[in-house]
Amino acid sequence: MKPGKQTQRKSTFNGSPIDREIQSSSQLMELFEELLRDILLAEKASIKAIFKETNKQVTQLTKMFEAIQKKPSFIKSNAVEGLIAEVSEFMEDYEKSPKCDAGLNSAAQKIEHYEIANYGTLREFAETLVLRGSENLLLDTLNEEKTTGQKLTDITTEVVKMDTAVNQT
Ligand SMILES: [Fe+2]
Repeated sequence: MKPGKQTQRKSTFNGSPIDREIQSSSQLMELFEELLRDILLAEKASIKAIFKETNKQVTQLTKMFEAIQKKPSFIKSNAVEGLIAEVSEFMEDYEKSPKCDAGLNSAAQKIEHYEIANYGTLREFAETLVLRGSENLLLDTLNEEKTTGQKLTDITTEVVKMDTAVNQT
């Protein structure tokens, strides 16, 4: 994020440079809050759909809402709904088939990468907004998500290897 560039783009605002900073940081705070709501929805949805271990991340997100004195309400997110619909479709179409595991793994990877993108952005926003507590929590969560993403990649590699071995026999 380049603060100088961001101030330049807001040509319709006529306040002093300090006012512009405040205006710009309050808009960033709104976006920070919106992204927090989006990722909270993704975490809640993925608890139901695939992951159980995201409970801790939901608790951390709730703390971040407390830090900015906002309620952790939900917003509608087409992206999250699409990702979760994919999980449901795979379960309905391929239940008890080997394809179900591969499909769920790929859907889980997409959710993980969506979360990684959001947590990375939120961490940068928290840094700019000088929300130190949130910044640290977001960095921890980002690292957890990356580790989970790597585990899912490892599982995919194993599944592909096993599939190749079965097809060669
Ligand atoms: Fe998560």
